[in-house]
Amino acid sequence: MTNEEMIAALNKDLTLEYAAAVQYIQHAAMVTGAKYQAMQKELVVHANEEIGHAILLAEQISGLGGIPTVDVAERFTADDSTEMMKQDLEGERDAVRRYKERVGQARDMGEFGLARALEDILIMEEEHARDLEAALGL
Ligand SMILES: [Fe+2]
Ligand SMILES: [Fe+2]
Repeated sequence: MTNEEMIAALNKDLTLEYAAAVQYIQHAAMVTGAKYQAMQKELVVHANEEIGHAILLAEQISGLGGIPTVDVAERFTADDSTEMMKQDLEGERDAVRRYKERVGQARDMGEFGLARALEDILIMEEEHARDLEAALGL
């Protein structure tokens, strides 16, 4: 993978981090029902962590000589709380998949600092997915 290809891939990841933060903020405010009471606070935590990921990615992109995007990927909303959690889980599973791939690509490039930063994000995405799976009883 070339430097330019990595910058492009990280910029796509960045659009998805922005979208995840926006989606979590909206879902945290809209989620209802006693069984999701605890999850509501967790969604706010997730929103803040996604913003942290976006900041990290933007720094890494500029460190590689790229320009961090301000584009935001598609956001998903629903009327039903369970459906919202499912939308969030889908995003997290996609993030886990992408960052596993990205860590390997960074290592192959010899970009070990980048690989480490992406691993830290990956660990948090795995936690996010587990939180949502637990809330959904999966
Ligand atoms: Fe994230
Ligand atoms: Fe996440």
